[in-house]
Amino acid sequence: MKPMYSRIAGTGRYLPERVLTNQDLEQMIDTTDEWIRSRTGIERRHIAADDQTTADLAELAARQALDAAGLEPEAIDFIVVGTTSPDTVFPNVGCLVQERLGIRGCPAFGIEAACSGFIYALSIADRFVATGGAQHALVIGAETLSRMVDYKDRATCVIFGDGAGAVVLEPSAEQGIISCHLRADGHYKDLLYHPYGVSKQRKPEDTEGPYIHMRGNEVFKVAVRSLESIVDETLAANDLEKGSIDWLIPHQANLRIIQLTAKRLGMPMDKVVLTLKDQGNTSAASVPMALDVAVRDGRVQRGDMVLLEAFGGGFTWGSALVRY
Ligand code: ACO
Repeated sequence: MKPMYSRIAGTGRYLPERVLTNQDLEQMIDTTDEWIRSRTGIERRHIAADDQTTADLAELAARQALDAAGLEPEAIDFIVVGTTSPDTVFPNVGCLVQERLGIRGCPAFGIEAACSGFIYALSIADRFVATGGAQHALVIGAETLSRMVDYKDRATCVIFGDGAGAVVLEPSAEQGIISCHLRADGHYKDLLYHPYGVSKQRKPEDTEGPYIHMRGNEVFKVAVRSLESIVDETLAANDLEKGSIDWLIPHQANLRIIQLTAKRLGMPMDKVVLTLKDQGNTSAASVPMALDVAVRDGRVQRGDMVLLEAFGGGFTWGSALVRY
């Protein structure tokens, strides 16, 4: 018989060793530790070593998630990686991780949805596992966004960091991933973007640098509105009251955005998992890393109702309601 649900069998994360503090940034640009902490909640972020790529980070997070699930790599038959900073255009990071894990044949691909990449990836993998299309899915969010940040632009470089988080999904007759809700609105394409890629390359007359560009204040307002509406939609879709959520695991973009989302849910901040102080905004990696932190320190227990949410460039946003 086909399973009804997928559930999280194990989680993992990897943070590069190199740390960039607010004090380091004070030496590089016109900013202060006080400004960064009060406007964002961030104190430090991790930056990949020069020879470390997104696949390196993703592999280490994946191995931890496999260990936590008690599985050998051969058990994996589906790999999806949310990332906006892949090693190469192709092979995709999923294929690179597959090769490193020594497995062959299963589907392996990337999802490019900026900071919502992990939620998008989780939603796809969930549908495969819950309908019997895969047995054990590896779902990763991994980024080396430091490679596309302008460390002279104080409006963006204080925010982003590198890292990777992963989960393994397995089939379950009991509730696991309960519902996923995905949204996007390309009309906001000019508020947060990287101007160049493959098909659209930089020309000599182009004045914009090959970096992340963000109109932070406008992004902030749409992020708050969109996240409020997606958490309402998630509760309504499952006939749940606000008080039924045990843990909120938000995308770690900005402490003030997280506080406003928590307020909407009527959740005290001690029920919100926060990692951004020490990790900054790691885009697609932030939600699975925060989940792994809370699982490993014992806050998130089996049976808890957990709400994951994210918002990012595109704009894309989404949520996943999970019975851990
Ligand atoms: N240090 C000191 N001053 C700064 C810095 C800095 N690092 N950065 C900007 N400022 C200045 C600005 O120049 C501006 O000065 P002015 O008033 O003289 O013009 C002033 O601070 C206020 O700038 P704002 O942009 O209005 O500051 P705001 O309070 O909005 O904070 C921030 C900026 C932190 C970026 C915030 O807007 C934010 O977090 N936005 C949302 C980011 C987000 O959620 N992104 C989506 C996910 S990321 C992804 O998808 C890849």
